[in-house]
Amino acid sequence: MKNIELATGIFYVGVDDHRTDLFENHMQLPHGVSYNSYLLVDEKVVLIDPVEIGFVGQYLSNIRYILKARPVDILVVNHAEPDHSGSVAILQEEPPDMQIVGNAKTFAPLEAFYGPLANKHVVADGDVLSIGVHQLQFFTAPMVHWPESMVTFEQTTGILFSNDAFGGFGTLNGAAFDDQHDIAFYEDDMRRYFANIVGKVAVPTVKALQKLSGLSINMIAPSHGLIWRSQPEWVIGKYSQWAQHQSEEGVVIVFGSMYGNTARMADVIARGVADAGIREIRMYDVARTETSFILSDIWKYRGVVLGACAHYGDMFPNMSSLIHGLSSFKPQNKVFGLFGGMSWSGGGLSTLKKYAEELKWNVVAENVEVKGAPARDEDIEQLYQLGLAIGREVKTR
Ligand code: FEO
Repeated sequence: MKNIELATGIFYVGVDDHRTDLFENHMQLPHGVSYNSYLLVDEKVVLIDPVEIGFVGQYLSNIRYILKARPVDILVVNHAEPDHSGSVAILQEEPPDMQIVGNAKTFAPLEAFYGPLANKHVVADGDVLSIGVHQLQFFTAPMVHWPESMVTFEQTTGILFSNDAFGGFGTLNGAAFDDQHDIAFYEDDMRRYFANIVGKVAVPTVKALQKLSGLSINMIAPSHGLIWRSQPEWVIGKYSQWAQHQSEEGVVIVFGSMYGNTARMADVIARGVADAGIREIRMYDVARTETSFILSDIWKYRGVVLGACAHYGDMFPNMSSLIHGLSSFKPQNKVFGLFGGMSWSGGGLSTLKKYAEELKWNVVAENVEVKGAPARDEDIEQLYQLGLAIGREVKTR
């Protein structure tokens, strides 16, 4: 079998995960995920970022296929989260004198997960480690995605081993490079990954991008998803756009409905949005679509309309997960509209309004609350006007 070689002596040795249903045990993976790892064979043998523990057998086999009996001298840990660091302790068993490279914040979480580690080597921001021909330079990237996150830049080839940054969901399916795939297939999964993992730390991401802007980056090798050999500027552009909350013309309508009445309200609103000239309209039943997909589209589009029926004086329960996501990740530059279905004393709309105030949402249209079914002309007109107002507002921005 031919090795996947990024440059002379630099190999991909990661694994595809086709079996995990839920990433971080809460986000669906319809197209799987890859845990990317890189092997540099030089005077020293270096591994950059190991993989999730469940794949350690396959991972060791990938490494041995290239190295045969030669040992690994250095393991670089860019990030301590277990989807990468899971196999650190096992790697250290063989060989026992392998050095582990991390920054000042790496080893506390690593040892909290895996117990005491030997042969730790702490690097500072900008330090260079020579491994022979190749020169590894380390840059801290705090909060992209955890406090200890860093990236590693190989100076002679211009390859940036970026860890979570520039990553995405989706397995590699035998071909690791961007020019071997239809990128459009990966874009949605990349944005969903960004919106639900890196999006919360958009400001540190922008700072990290600025910090790296002086480097001559020829290739981006993240720890999930495609390796950007031909179009690194494409993924840098996308990440910059998402991190700066630049949204597109479109409206996401999300409803929580017990007996279909709030869903009917959403349909009327959609008519108004469409009549305002919006072509990108995404509608979600919050009980049927997992939050990460909805949050991803909210990140993409400018307009957001949320509606919930009442449930014991509160809102439809499944809406809470989405509100948690909005509260935590705080997508910016949005225009909101709210609506609710009322049973006896309401609770759907009033709860949404409470969150709108707390989270300082820009609610641009008159909120609408309907008792029972949206069958009265005045209810239908109000809902339609709400849709029109949101659509027009989205178009003017
Ligand atoms: Fe892919 Fe934050 O770990």
